[in-house]
Amino acid sequence: MKKGRNQEMDRDAVKLAPSILAADFARLGEQVAEAEKAGADRIHIDVMDGHFVPNLSMGVPIVESLRRVTHLPLETHLMISDPDLFLDDFSKAGSDSFLVHWEGNNNLHRTVQRIKALGKLGGVAINPATPASVLEEILPDVDQVLVMTVNPGFGNQHFIHTTLPKIRRVRQMIEQFKPGCDLEVDGGIDPKTAPLTVHAGANVLVAGSAIFSVHDGIAAAMKRLRDSANQKRTEKTRNSKSEIHNQSK
Ligand code: DX5
Ligand code: ZN
Repeated sequence: MKKGRNQEMDRDAVKLAPSILAADFARLGEQVAEAEKAGADRIHIDVMDGHFVPNLSMGVPIVESLRRVTHLPLETHLMISDPDLFLDDFSKAGSDSFLVHWEGNNNLHRTVQRIKALGKLGGVAINPATPASVLEEILPDVDQVLVMTVNPGFGNQHFIHTTLPKIRRVRQMIEQFKPGCDLEVDGGIDPKTAPLTVHAGANVLVAGSAIFSVHDGIAAAMKRLRDSANQKRTEKTRNSKSEIHNQSK
C-alpha cells in the first residue's frame, strides 16, 4: 500500500536536469557528483557550434569524461547546424539521449530515426518563436519535447513568459498523441519560474545558473527548485482531482 503511494508520487514528481553549462569546469566531475547525490534525474549537456547559435561550448570529450564519473543519464542538447554528423560520436562517448532542434533541420524525421537506430532516446527542441504545431507529425516518434524558454546559446538569460501558453499547448498535444512523452523546459528556470512551467504542464526542468551559480551550494539549490516545482504539481494534482470529483457529482 505504502509502496504504491510512493510509486504514484514518484511518477508525479518533477524531474531535474542540471545543465553543466553553468558549472565550474575546473571542478566538473565533483559538481556532477554533488548533483547526483542531491537527486538529479539526468545531466543536461549543451553543445554549441558558434553557427547554429552565436556561442561555443563543449563537445564529445566532456561526455566521455562524465560517463566515467556518473551513473546518471547524459542528455545531449545539440545546438549545432548538422546534428547528424555527430550522433555516432556522442553516442559512443556515452550520451543516453539527444535533443535536436526543429529549426534548421530539413530532415528532422531522419535525424530522429538515426537516434533511435543508435538505441538512444530522442527529443525535439523548439525555440521561443516556433509554434507548438510543428511538433504534431513528429510527436509519435519522440520520447521528449524541449520547449526553449529563452533563445538558445547562453546561460543565465531571462525566462520568456510568452512561452507559457505554448507549454500548455504542447502538454495537450502530448496527452493526445504521445502520453508518457517528457515535456522539458530550458532557460531561465529558477524557483520563481519553475512553478509557472510546471503549472503549464512541464515535467522536466533544465536549470544551469539556478543550480550551479548559487551561494549556498548545489544540494540547497536543487532542493529549492524541487520544492517550488513540486508544490505547484501537488496543487495541480489536487485541483484536477477535485475538478473530476465535482464533475462526477
Ligand atoms: C541555453 C541552454 C541551457 C542553459 C540554461 O541555450 O540550452 O541549457 O544552460 O541556462 P540557465 O538555466 O542558466 O538559463
Ligand atoms: Zn540546453
